[in-house]
Amino acid sequence: MSSTLPKAFDMQGLRVLITGAAGGIGSETAKLCSQLGATTVLTDVASSLERMAMQASALPGIEAVEPLDIADRRAVETLVASHAPFDALIDTAAICPFDEDWMQPEWDDKFHRVMKVNVLGPINLVRAVMPGMIKRKQGSIALCGSIAGWMGGLLAAPHYAASKGSVHALVRWFAQRATPHHVRVNAVAPGPIATGMTDGQPYNKDNYPMKRMGDPQEIANALVFLSSPAASFIAGSVMDVNGGVLMR
Ligand SMILES: NC(=O)c1ccc[n+]([C@@H]2O[C@H](COP(=O)([O-])OP(=O)(O)OC[C@H]3O[C@@H](n4cnc5c(N)ncnc54)[C@H](O)[C@@H]3O)[C@@H](O)[C@H]2O)c1
Repeated sequence: MSSTLPKAFDMQGLRVLITGAAGGIGSETAKLCSQLGATTVLTDVASSLERMAMQASALPGIEAVEPLDIADRRAVETLVASHAPFDALIDTAAICPFDEDWMQPEWDDKFHRVMKVNVLGPINLVRAVMPGMIKRKQGSIALCGSIAGWMGGLLAAPHYAASKGSVHALVRWFAQRATPHHVRVNAVAPGPIATGMTDGQPYNKDNYPMKRMGDPQEIANALVFLSSPAASFIAGSVMDVNGGVLMR
């Protein structure tokens, strides 16, 4: 397949770590990386391992399918050490509890969990992969922000909006340090996408310019583009992929 594609989009020979690979966007990202010739290490929480392994069974280029909680710094470091080197990290792991009752005393615990997964998670991952990339003077990192990180969310609760705003800020912090070493750090900020994360929530498609939610593949396309040689001059950017729901 890759021989018919422009070389710039080719992932042949690239080793890619994907988190949240059992999820809607993560599984489409894994599929596309495989189709474009990458070798991938697919990870997700232990409870999703079976689903991830099943989804991956038909894909070429899978080096490993492993459990990984990105909030666990030591687990992240161990996994990265055992499969390094990586040319790319694509982090799609996150949680989005739709519990807006932030006045409740127990809500603070949920806040800390969301921040631990959605903010400390990417920090753990970047902390583990970036030094090796910098040493080899090549690499790319693509994170998942969100429309919620820009405008507070369509339905999202405040902890999620805060966590995704943090991811947007972290992209710049990471990129300032990585770009001079030829390592590119970027993110995609999706709008409402039809995945397990949004399933059953009252998103009103009629309010959106395209009258539909996005398909997870449409986010995978952007994440894989940012990780490919085609994006060689893109660094420190947060790319909006939201069907025009928010035009900044
Ligand atoms: N779906 C949307 O509308 C939307 C909008 C904006 C941003 N996003 C972002 O896109 C990314 C992918 O979301 P999705 O829609 O595919 O959701 P999803 O729920 O389908 O997938 C998320 C995956 O992350 C995994 N995960 C959760 N906690 C984890 C942890 N601690 N360690 C490792 N993996 C963990 C889950 O098991 C799941 O497989 C997320 O970062 C999400 O915040 C999604």
